[in-house]
Amino acid sequence: MRAAIADAEVGDDALGDDPTVHRLEGRVAALLGKERALFFPSGIMANETAIVVLGRPGTEAVVDASCHLLDWEEGAAAAWAGMQLREVATPPAGITAAAVEAALRADSPYQPRTSLISVENTHNAAGGKVVPLDRLKEIRSLAEDRGLPVHMDGARLWNASTASGVTVAEYAATADTVMVTLSKGLGCPVGSMLAGDGGVMREAWRIRRRMGGAMRQAGILAAAGLYALDHHVDLLAEDHRRAGLLAELLADVRTVRVEAPETNIVMIDLLRADVDAPTVVAQLAGRGVRMSPFSPRRLRAVTHMDVDDDGIRLTARALAEVLTVP
Ligand SMILES: Cc1ncc(COP(=O)(O)O)c(C=O)c1O
Repeated sequence: MRAAIADAEVGDDALGDDPTVHRLEGRVAALLGKERALFFPSGIMANETAIVVLGRPGTEAVVDASCHLLDWEEGAAAAWAGMQLREVATPPAGITAAAVEAALRADSPYQPRTSLISVENTHNAAGGKVVPLDRLKEIRSLAEDRGLPVHMDGARLWNASTASGVTVAEYAATADTVMVTLSKGLGCPVGSMLAGDGGVMREAWRIRRRMGGAMRQAGILAAAGLYALDHHVDLLAEDHRRAGLLAELLADVRTVRVEAPETNIVMIDLLRADVDAPTVVAQLAGRGVRMSPFSPRRLRAVTHMDVDDDGIRLTARALAEVLTVP
């Protein structure tokens, strides 16, 4: 990837003439079955561009519970799009059309209107769960009935596709705009894409610029994206296997509870009352293992291409040591 970056042919993407960015955008648009994809510096900026383009100020976006838009984007939908987010009370198995429908308000001169539905796939906070294609189709058909656009936060759509065998294009067909990330499991230093059709993407170009996301010689970053699509997508299945291995090894540790992962995220609940996630994360770091404290009593472990089987065994050992009752 470093060599591809060094060799990249570049132009000025703020002027729309960087050939490597064009190649990446064309490739991702084709993979997702959309007319156009745009290269962004981050997933948050690509998500928020979609919210600005598809939503309307003073209205609501109906979003799935604990999604990234709601919990991790610094109130960006309110700041950039003038919209509030209405969280769907998602059943344990994940978002459904019925749950979305229940969150759509009746037409009333006193209550906010809904202008957008957004779904996250895979769902990060749910532990990398895949949203099944039939559910997405039902949500799409509900949205069509109500005349509402759908955005998909597919930061880990590659993982959903690897786990389910459903193509990213089949998932993308259930949404007007789809965000996919290159800088997570695919191992790029920077970059996410927003894909969609026609006027929506012409507007997205303007909003990206307004947000300060027009980059100049961005071909050096796009080259990493093209390399990742050629060489790293197939590695995701190994990440999923290793996440499963970690969950298996942790099944013997009585001080944690772990749900079997569907993709590359393992949520680890701490059962000991006298330890919290930030403390455990600091102790793990001292043993060479990096994890996020996802909530006060929950750790998030993510497998990726730089973690091998030995790393997984080291992680399970380190957790068992840190959590053994003295
Ligand atoms: C589901 C989801 N969406 C969006 C993002 C934002 O991506 P970025 O960090 O590139 O802004 C993340 C990042 O973790 C994510 O998990």
